[in-house]
Amino acid sequence: MKDNFIGMLKTACDRTNRGNQVSDLVSVLEKGGFFTAPCSTQYHLCKEGGLLEHSLNVASAALNIGLALKYENSHSLVIAALLHDVGKMGQFNKPNYVPNMVKDGRVTKAEPVQKYKISESKPYASNPELLYVDHEIRSIQIISQYLDLTEEESFAILYHNGMYSNLKYALNGKETPLQMIIHFADLWASRVVESSKEAE
Ligand SMILES: [Fe+2]
Ligand SMILES: [Fe+2]
Repeated sequence: MKDNFIGMLKTACDRTNRGNQVSDLVSVLEKGGFFTAPCSTQYHLCKEGGLLEHSLNVASAALNIGLALKYENSHSLVIAALLHDVGKMGQFNKPNYVPNMVKDGRVTKAEPVQKYKISESKPYASNPELLYVDHEIRSIQIISQYLDLTEEESFAILYHNGMYSNLKYALNGKETPLQMIIHFADLWASRVVESSKEAE
């Protein structure tokens, strides 16, 4: 999956004259834990590597939607889809998600030390040591240090949560084709593709 992600990103950036910026971005993703991070605390793909898998699912849905709707800029589709959730890996050398440890049994005379285990229903929690910033804003902040996003790509990543975002009043009525495709591809991946996989 990781090779697939890097290959797709490299091709899309090469074709838009940004190929030389990819390796720095990829090393930052590597250091920041992007390739191993989960995608959520308890919902879709809350497991190691979930964020990577989700990003590929969004890229695949976005390309299919783009094809059906004859949207021409497939390179921007790939770049925005693969990178939309980069902010979920965390920032400032702190992961966004940490294991959610819960009490494992009770303290007794025979077992005087409290044991802990990872919660089954909610395996991850938001890192209390990382100041809260909406992940779409964090995505833009991280990516923009290494890759020159186009205005359209930047807009699509920033508003990828559509009306489910704190930014909804800013977006209302100003949607763009790329932003709408990324938003719907993200919904489709998380609500349909990934939820049916988990139900299997
Ligand atoms: Fe997101
Ligand atoms: Fe997403």
